[in-house]
Amino acid sequence: MTTTTSEARDVDVAASDDVPERGRLVVEIDGTTTLGIFRFGGRLYAWENVCAHQGGPACQGRIISRVRERLDAEQRSLGMRFDEDTMHVVCPWHGYEYDVTTGRHPGVPGASLRRFDVVEVEGRIRVTV
Ligand code: FES
Repeated sequence: MTTTTSEARDVDVAASDDVPERGRLVVEIDGTTTLGIFRFGGRLYAWENVCAHQGGPACQGRIISRVRERLDAEQRSLGMRFDEDTMHVVCPWHGYEYDVTTGRHPGVPGASLRRFDVVEVEGRIRVTV
């Protein structure tokens, strides 16, 4: 553990291999903070495991690609499809869905997860808490 400021700390939480592409790892830090760490497009993202809706364990939900509706020129539905260029996690309590790269719910303005800085150093994942 390395101190970065008088308040923030860098904490070693896992090996890089513990979070594969499109994978997730949930870690608890100091028994007080639980984070979900995700890897998508080769980058890591860390979010507090607290849903903006009612505090559920949002980071522990199902991982899916965003569902988009295809429309024709007259805006008639051509059905739904998964957008493989996105990665969402779905809160297991009531289904709030978050883009793991932004932490935002795509359909509820202002609903987002709390972000934490995360880096990889020599095969280890470190977060700033
Ligand atoms: S607490 Fe997450 S959707 Fe309700």
